[in-house]
Amino acid sequence: MEVIIQSNAEDGCVLGAKIIAKTVREKPDAVLGLATGRTPERLYRELVRMHREEGLDFSRVTTFNLDEYVGLPPEHRQSYRYFMNEHLFRHINIDLANTHVPAGTAQDLQAECRDYEERITAAGGIDVQLLGLGRNGHIGFNEPTGSLRSRTWIKILSEQTLNDNAAVFGDRDAMPRHAVTMGIGTIMEARQVVLLAFGPAKVRAVMEMIEGPLSAICPGSALQAHPRAIVVLDEASAAGLRYASHYRWVDQNKLAWQRYD
Ligand code: GLP
Repeated sequence: MEVIIQSNAEDGCVLGAKIIAKTVREKPDAVLGLATGRTPERLYRELVRMHREEGLDFSRVTTFNLDEYVGLPPEHRQSYRYFMNEHLFRHINIDLANTHVPAGTAQDLQAECRDYEERITAAGGIDVQLLGLGRNGHIGFNEPTGSLRSRTWIKILSEQTLNDNAAVFGDRDAMPRHAVTMGIGTIMEARQVVLLAFGPAKVRAVMEMIEGPLSAICPGSALQAHPRAIVVLDEASAAGLRYASHYRWVDQNKLAWQRYD
C-alpha cells in the first residue's frame, strides 16, 4: 500500500483527482471505477474543474460504479445513479451510455450481478478504481466478514452502515437494507485502486485497513494484497497509525515519476 497523508481532506481530494486525471490523459479510453458517499464529492468537483478549465476529456471514458441500493430507481434522489449524474456526469463530456451503475431495481438481481461482471470484463477491466471507506472498514457495500474473493453480489447492510448513512436519507427506516455491490474480488482486479478516507470518524477503520491483519473482518484490508493500492488520508484519519512517520518519509523521498502532485 502507498499511504499518502495530506494536511486536509481538500488536498486529499485534489490529489485523488490528479491520479484519475493522469490515467485519463495517458489512456483517453480509460475505464474508471467510481464511488459515492460524502468523501469523493470534492474530488468530483475537481474533475469537473479540470474538464472546464484544462480540457480534461471524458468523451471516450467508460465508468463502472461500485454499488447501488436495492429498490431505488435512478431518479430517486438518494440513488447512487442520481448522485453520479448530479456530482459528475452532467458536468463533463462523458457519454451517459458509457456510464454503468448496478440496477437496484432489476427484476432478477442475481442476473444483474452476473451481467455487471460481464460488462466490466467486456470493457477490458477497470484501470483505476476509486474507493471510500466505511466506518466499519467496508469498501463498496462489502460489510465485515464478507468473502475476500466475492464477485458482484447482493449484500445486507449492517446496522452501523444504516446508522451512518441515515442522515442522508433523513430517516433510517426510509433506507433500503440491501445493496448490489461489486465484490472484493471484483475490486481487487482493478489495475490500480485509490482509496480516500478523511476525518476522525475513520481513524479506527484506517488503522485496521493499513496496519491490522489482512482479514475479512475489515474488508478494506484486502487492499494490502493489491499491487497498486494508494490510500489518501488527512491528518485526522491518519491519527492512529503507528507508522505514520514512515509513510511521510516515503512520500518525501519519492522519485519525480513516482509522484502525482
Ligand atoms: C457508503 C458507500 C461506500 C462509501 C462509504 C463511506 O455506504 N457504499 O462506497 O465509501 O459508505 O461513506 P462516506 O464517504 O459518506 O463516509
